[in-house]
Amino acid sequence: MSQTFGVVVLAAGKGTRMCSARPKVLHTLCGLPLLEYPLRTARELAPTETIVVVGHGKEEIERAFAHWPVKFVDQREPLGTGHAVLSAREALSVPRFFVVPGDVPLVPAQALRALLDQHLRTGALASFLTIELSDPGSYGRVVRDERGKPQKVVEARDASPKELAIHEVNTGVWCLENHPAVWAALERLRPNNVKGEYYLTDVVASLYPQVEAVRWPESDVLLGVNDRVDLARIEGILRWRILERWMREGVSVVDPAAVYPGPDVRVGPDTVVFPGSFLLGETEIGENCRIGPQAYLLDTRVAQGAHIWFSVLEGAEIGEEAQIGPYAHLRAGAKVGARARIGNFVEVKASQIGEGAKALHLAYIGDAEVGQAANIGAGAITCNFQPGKTEKFRTEIGARAFIGSNACLIAPIRIGEGAVVGAGSVITEDVPPYALALERSPQVVKPNWARRKEAG
Ligand code: UD1
Ligand code: CA
Repeated sequence: MSQTFGVVVLAAGKGTRMCSARPKVLHTLCGLPLLEYPLRTARELAPTETIVVVGHGKEEIERAFAHWPVKFVDQREPLGTGHAVLSAREALSVPRFFVVPGDVPLVPAQALRALLDQHLRTGALASFLTIELSDPGSYGRVVRDERGKPQKVVEARDASPKELAIHEVNTGVWCLENHPAVWAALERLRPNNVKGEYYLTDVVASLYPQVEAVRWPESDVLLGVNDRVDLARIEGILRWRILERWMREGVSVVDPAAVYPGPDVRVGPDTVVFPGSFLLGETEIGENCRIGPQAYLLDTRVAQGAHIWFSVLEGAEIGEEAQIGPYAHLRAGAKVGARARIGNFVEVKASQIGEGAKALHLAYIGDAEVGQAANIGAGAITCNFQPGKTEKFRTEIGARAFIGSNACLIAPIRIGEGAVVGAGSVITEDVPPYALALERSPQVVKPNWARRKEAG
């Protein structure tokens, strides 16, 4: 028997219960769209082909997942899960395939493997995963015969009180044979239920007894997202799982209920993450750092021993033992050297800050190269942009240079190594190394001027 298989992910439903203009599978879970999760799980199994059934919000979904090696098929009308599987028929060439709902994000690859094993062992035409829930809510109830074979699945809406009392439910995850008998059962589906849909679940009764149900013991990971309450609950489960892994690897998470991690983020041992911290995207944190309170890090790399608090960092790189914050904003391409310090209300964009350099208060550093141990005074800014031009001009500040408070450096400009720019100067010409540049009108002092004015 051939072991090759495919995966069909169902993502064409309207997601009515989300009450949203956005397709359900594009709502995010720990920073990634829901659909990303079943696709990653599928990828772990290395299927021969992966098909995503789309319909509602098709363009948006296809755009968001254009980089995935999957085939999209259009369901045209969301007439139910059975109809969705039928619409993938032409695209399938494998002997059997999984059906995974796009709204069951945490389904583990092991559960799919266990399902496939039993499916192959028993030679069933269709198999599906079930879980036991103390509160089975709106899930489809699994009715088994006296020998324990699944006899039918009844949607909660269509169930009798006796059926509603069943705790074993359908997870929506299936393994189906690409076999004429299965397609015939799908063709026979009728929308004679409360929702008026073609239910995939009806194939259980129709293919009985050639159907298997595999009960998966860990029910949390097979829950579905139907509304925003489910989404928040599942985010809670995933967050805890990520943070638990970090903690077991040596990271201190001061209050796991108040830290928001992405699934791909890596954190080194002995780092402490304080409450209110978001660590998202491809963020990577070294050992022995202190992150937070209140740090937002997206796609940011932080070397060991750095301290980041009350700050926003997007696409930044932070060197060893550097200190960021409070209230700093580091944007794309901000590279801060080892032991440098970026402080209160300082914004850095597309700039390199040398080792040990300091910008501690109210500065803007954009498109600049700041040498090591340079000091950027309070309120100093690089004027990298001129009205009416899209080009950004560069500023170079040499090692150990001192830029006085409120200086404006009109780019393109070079401040030499060890040079000093006086406070309040507007600098338009390059400053040679070790020079002092001052641009100020001489101070005028008129003795007793105010007193004379008062006297009239
Ligand atoms: C479904 C199952 C239910 C199970 C539950 C588990 C059916 C009839 N019911 O119910 O037994 O307990 O999942 O989570 O299968 N979809 C399409 N096209 C459609 C309709 C749906 O692609 O025409 C997709 C949806 O986008 C979604 C998935 O199929 O990703 C499941 O649909 P949904 O309407 O959420 O089914 P449930 O009511 O959750
Ligand atoms: Ca669902």
